[in-house]
Amino acid sequence: MPTSCSMPRTLLVTGGAGFIGSAVIRHLLTSTRARVVNVDKLTYAGNLASLVEVAGNPRYAFERLDICHRQGLDRVFACYQPDAVMHLAAESHVDRSIDGPADFIQTNIVGTYTLLEAARAYWNGLDTERRDAFRFHHISTDEVYGDLGAPVAGASKLEPHSSNLFTEQTPYSPSSPYSASKASADHLVRAWQHTYGLPTLITNCSNNYGPYHFPEKLIPLVILNALEGKPLPVYGRRRAGA
Ligand SMILES: NC(=O)c1ccc[n+]([C@@H]2O[C@H](COP(=O)([O-])OP(=O)(O)OC[C@H]3O[C@@H](n4cnc5c(N)ncnc54)[C@H](O)[C@@H]3O)[C@@H](O)[C@H]2O)c1
Repeated sequence: MPTSCSMPRTLLVTGGAGFIGSAVIRHLLTSTRARVVNVDKLTYAGNLASLVEVAGNPRYAFERLDICHRQGLDRVFACYQPDAVMHLAAESHVDRSIDGPADFIQTNIVGTYTLLEAARAYWNGLDTERRDAFRFHHISTDEVYGDLGAPVAGASKLEPHSSNLFTEQTPYSPSSPYSASKASADHLVRAWQHTYGLPTLITNCSNNYGPYHFPEKLIPLVILNALEGKPLPVYGRRRAGA
C-alpha cells in the first residue's frame, strides 16, 4: 500500500478497548482520516462500550487477540498493513501487580517482546519508503522513574532536577511489579531500535483521568468512595519529621 502525505495512514493500536486506548481511537476516528485496527484481548480492563460511538466507522476494525500470540499478530500485520503501531496494551493497575505479578510479566514484558518481533518481521518486508516512515510508539509510564521526593522549597520549575521533577534523563528506578514490568518493556523497545533499527518512540506519561476511567483507579475510586461516604485511600507513607 503506497504511503504519502495525502494518503490516510493505518494505525495498529493495541489495548484500544482500555481507558486511554479507547480515547485515542475515538480521537483518531473523529478528528483524523486514519484507519484504525484495535488489537485487544479484552481482559477485565477492556470495555468495548467505550468505543460504541465509533465502532460502526468503516475505517475501524477490531481484532480480539492476545499480544503474546505471535501467529495472530503476524496475521494482523499482514492483513492490515499498518503504517505505525501505538502499543498501549498492558496490565496497568499497581495494586493488582502486587497481588499477582505473573500477568504483568506476561503481557507487559513477553507481550511487548512478541509485538516487537512481529513488528520487526513486518517492517523488514516493507519497501524503503514505508520502512522509513514506519513508527512503533510504545506508551510507557512515568512510574519507571520511581517515586518523586518531597518538593524542594523555592526550586525553579525550569530546573527539573532541583525541583524533584522527572525528566527523560532521570535514571530508571521502578518500585512495583507494574512499573518494573513497564521499565523492562521500555528497555526491550530501546534495544530493538538500537540493535535492529526498528523506528521506535517511547513516551512516559503521568496519570491520566477522564471519561470511561476504570473505577478501581485513584480518581474515580476517591470520587465514588466520597459519594458513598467511605474512607478515601491514600498511597505512600508519611516521612519521619515531614
Ligand atoms: N492510565 C494511566 O494513568 C496511565 C499512566 C501512564 C501510563 N499508562 C500506560 O498507558 C497504557 C494504557 O493504560 P490504560 O490505563 O488505558 O490501561 P487499561 O488497563 O485501561 O487498558 C489496557 C487494555 O489492554 C488490554 N490488554 C491487556 N492485556 C492484553 C494482552 N495480553 N493482549 C492484548 N490486549 C491486552 C486490556 O484488555 C485493556 O483493554 C498502558 O500501557 C499503561 O501502562 C497509563
